[in-house]
Amino acid sequence: MNATISPSILNCDIADLRGELTKISGADIAHVDVMDNHFVPNLSWGLPVAEAVVKSGILPVDAHLMIEDPDRWAPQYAEVGCESVTFHAEAAAAPLRLARELHRIGARAGLALKPATDIAPFVDILNEFDMILIMTVEPGFGGQSFIEQMIPKIERTRAAIDAAGLQVSIQVDGGISRTTIERAAEAGADNFVAGSAVFRAEDAHREVEALRELANAHTHAH
Ligand code: DX5
Ligand code: ZN
Repeated sequence: MNATISPSILNCDIADLRGELTKISGADIAHVDVMDNHFVPNLSWGLPVAEAVVKSGILPVDAHLMIEDPDRWAPQYAEVGCESVTFHAEAAAAPLRLARELHRIGARAGLALKPATDIAPFVDILNEFDMILIMTVEPGFGGQSFIEQMIPKIERTRAAIDAAGLQVSIQVDGGISRTTIERAAEAGADNFVAGSAVFRAEDAHREVEALRELANAHTHAH
């Protein structure tokens, strides 16, 4: 699998959203973090912003829903044209049903796990998802440090996907930078969210390229 870079726009200059998206137009997809101040202790934005990013036509959208009751809200993100919709395992009442609903609408379905949530209870339904998001920080804020203990979870998840003969992506989100991306790639991640690493860089475009090169050089063979 080739490495995919998904810059998070959480801490970009929202007053110049089009300009910020243009800076990352060389990335694969734009990561849009939706926070409801209940599932996580922070509030960002919702459907209108996700839809505006889709409509900008600059990049496809990877929606990361850090919200309660995704069973109710996630399908709307697929309906407005997000290419990929990821909801949290801890928040979904019926993750399998929701994944099928997202597929029926035409989006890719992602399942996100907070740092203390194990992959084991979801191994039997991995085939229902296009992507597993392993949070490498506690969700809620950008700019936090990568949690090293997540490396074995990435490895276990990759082993379970390989054992089942599936082609499921593993996304990592939180603290991904030039110093952490290689370890995450070696462990089995192939989709990398980077917020502060990209938007605090002098040249966001070059940073995306640098991250992609490092990830591809260390991608585990599968
Ligand atoms: C955090 C969000 C992340 C965040 C990542 O809860 O899900 O996508 O923007 O930011 P960095 O890359 O700065 O850790
Ligand atoms: Zn995110």
